[in-house]
Amino acid sequence: MSLINAIGNTPLVKLQRIWDSDKTGVRMLAKLEGSNPGGSVKDRPAYYMLKTAIASGELTSDKVILEPTSGNTGIGMAMMATAMGYRIKLIMPACVSEERRAILLALGAELELTPGCDKTDGAIRRAHSIMEKYADQYYMPNQFENPANWKAHYETTAPEVIRDTNGEVDAFVAGMGTTGTLMGVSRYFREHKHKIRVVGVEPTLDHRIQGLKNMQESIVPSIYEPGLLDCKITCNDDDAFETFRDLALREGLFCGLSSGAALWGAIEVAKDLPRGSTVVVIFADRGERYLSTEIFRSVCALCPP
Ligand SMILES: Cc1ncc(COP(=O)(O)O)c(C=O)c1O
Repeated sequence: MSLINAIGNTPLVKLQRIWDSDKTGVRMLAKLEGSNPGGSVKDRPAYYMLKTAIASGELTSDKVILEPTSGNTGIGMAMMATAMGYRIKLIMPACVSEERRAILLALGAELELTPGCDKTDGAIRRAHSIMEKYADQYYMPNQFENPANWKAHYETTAPEVIRDTNGEVDAFVAGMGTTGTLMGVSRYFREHKHKIRVVGVEPTLDHRIQGLKNMQESIVPSIYEPGLLDCKITCNDDDAFETFRDLALREGLFCGLSSGAALWGAIEVAKDLPRGSTVVVIFADRGERYLSTEIFRSVCALCPP
């Protein structure tokens, strides 16, 4: 199997404890995207964006790939760039976890850090300013504006969900970052006439959940079309962190913080569904990627002895 073929086909796991699928009669299925070779959901769009750019001739072997990222896309892209023989430079806010930086360096990426207080938007602005000056030297996939981001989910994530549930899904829930996951999946469900509620989980203003965006305080990704969501749920940091901790302690699933937010939203959705329904929720990455973060330590300090 090639590295490319190892992307996707992630497991769908039934939750039993935080949400008791059997007792409530509403199945909660979590799609474990941390099982991708680069460790997150972002392997899918990273590969799609690069293969599309190579096919269109925008990415040639003399160009360096340049991308602003809070981490996971960078890791997926660095993995694919190295495997496909390209050089890559990533612009990231200084607040991203040490593990992410170390993984990127291990994969051979060049890193440039922007001030942590400017979050991902600072990295986006810096990447655009490099492109303005040196467009001939770089190719910027730009996950926030690139249709290949959502197409990856249209062509892989959504059909996998339908295949693995025999189409028996009533709601699909995911955190909102670039919104590529939600936009691609929603388009697929609508075009293939699946009546599935697509729900985005958005963090509150000034949140600390890496990978997610509050649209009011961020540069809104141009791929985001609000009309493709049936509903948006707001999750605060405390609820996300508590659910993240419960996931590890009660379900044995050590996922990232955004998975805590996504599950909190999915439970809100599940509470209103009749018995016999099914909810699919995306767990975007794994917990290992956050071990050094202050947030992880403070959340973990809450764990019972
Ligand atoms: C940890 C994590 N969760 C959720 C998301 C959101 O995914 P999307 O960009 O498809 O909205 C991301 C995106 O980078 C992420 O890194």
